Amino acid sequence: MAKDSLAFKCTSCGAASAKWSGRCDACGAWNTIVEDTGLSISGPAKQGMGGRRGKQLELTDLKSMADAPPRTEAGVAELDRVLGGGLVHASAVLLGGDPGIGKSTLLLQAAARFARNGLKVIYVTGEESAAQVQMRAQRLGLTDSPVLLASESNLRDILTTLEAEKPDLAIIDSIQTVWIDTIESAPGSVSQVRASAHELVNMAKRRGISTIMVGHVTKEGALAGPRVVEHMVDTVLYFEGERGHQFRILRAVKNRFGASDEIGVFEMTGGGLIEVKNPSALFLSQRGKPTPGSAVFAGIEGTRPILCEIQALVSPAPQGQSRRAVVGWDSARLSMLLAVLESRAGVSFAGLDVYLNVAGGMRITEPAADLAVVAALMSARESHPLGQQTVFFGEISLSGGVRPVTQAENRLKEAQKLGFTTAIMPPLSKRSGAQGIALEQIEDLAGFVNSNFGQPAPK
Ligand code: TYD
Ligand code: MG
Repeated sequence: MAKDSLAFKCTSCGAASAKWSGRCDACGAWNTIVEDTGLSISGPAKQGMGGRRGKQLELTDLKSMADAPPRTEAGVAELDRVLGGGLVHASAVLLGGDPGIGKSTLLLQAAARFARNGLKVIYVTGEESAAQVQMRAQRLGLTDSPVLLASESNLRDILTTLEAEKPDLAIIDSIQTVWIDTIESAPGSVSQVRASAHELVNMAKRRGISTIMVGHVTKEGALAGPRVVEHMVDTVLYFEGERGHQFRILRAVKNRFGASDEIGVFEMTGGGLIEVKNPSALFLSQRGKPTPGSAVFAGIEGTRPILCEIQALVSPAPQGQSRRAVVGWDSARLSMLLAVLESRAGVSFAGLDVYLNVAGGMRITEPAADLAVVAALMSARESHPLGQQTVFFGEISLSGGVRPVTQAENRLKEAQKLGFTTAIMPPLSKRSGAQGIALEQIEDLAGFVNSNFGQPAPK
């Protein structure tokens, strides 16, 4: 029987029929007949599916497959590192981020790089017209790159285009604009996003097309966030930053082909995004003269040490209710540290407003920043600047102990490279190889707070 004469299928048993009816003749279920779209989402593909045994493999048979997956580098070190060393062939990537943060800019620039490195790239845009993308390409100086543009949002059209063009890389901007005509809800709804992403990931694996999907997240999670898509894809990247700041941070939160927690740092300029090869130097470049409440944290993001400035401001609260406001760090963690300071070191912040900010639009998730935060808080509270050449790191426990953190050596090396002369840190288990930097190893918070907490010693 010709395929198009069987235009309807039962979603319950998979039986095909030529016309719609309220009840399936084959299995007797009601309201299960839908038009067959040829997409796998329309229900079980064939009657009798599931009766066949799958072919089994021994784990040892898989040795040859376990070799490093083939990758292509973009030639943008900040992007390639976050991807785990380049884009893995036939992988599915989700790039999430707030609207307007620069996702389309990043991907257009990446598309041009990949195209220049020999990949056939299609940029499918449902958000903007092809003319708008062209205008952006012009602004970015990319008009001569061999990237194909398609302005489509119907999934069927997108899949047809991809089948016909057989690109190596497809960029879908964004998954919230893609819609499937057999699903009734509006584009951007959870069911549309989930089903479209599922089809696109399938396509990526079946046809060997690496696929990068853009997904918007809003603070309120109002749009069906790309969260539902996260478990379907191989790699999830988030593009973050404060809109008022020029720094943008690309962060891997899941990566089947590389380390998660890796970050790439970019700067948004009039001519697009440029990579920041030495973020520590940049984050610290705006430090002015010694100010109370400023402490430098020697942090690690993924495999890379990054130094940044933590700023605190403490001021008398006008009324009884004191405020705590945090940008770039966890506010629950600040409350915890204030409580530990009060109970274990006898320093109270009651009746004081406390503001904490990580300079440069950076967001820190490491508990290793605890000691730097305490130093900044104490320095602000006592209106006494800390040593300009001092870095801090160390986790603080509820008992008031200062606990060792990972990669102390890397942190010290980076600090030393940037000209810092003192590190205030937890006790090291083995002698540090870092030369030329004085180590002040402290074991408990009370001792630290009641000494000079990293202030320069009086001359
Ligand atoms: P865009 O990539 O459109 O963000 P998204 O796709 O995440 O919504 O970028 C939006 C912002 O970036 C916009 O406010 C303008 C700014 N921008 C620049 O500053 N320089 C540039 O070269 C470009 C292309 C954009
Ligand atoms: Mg966009």
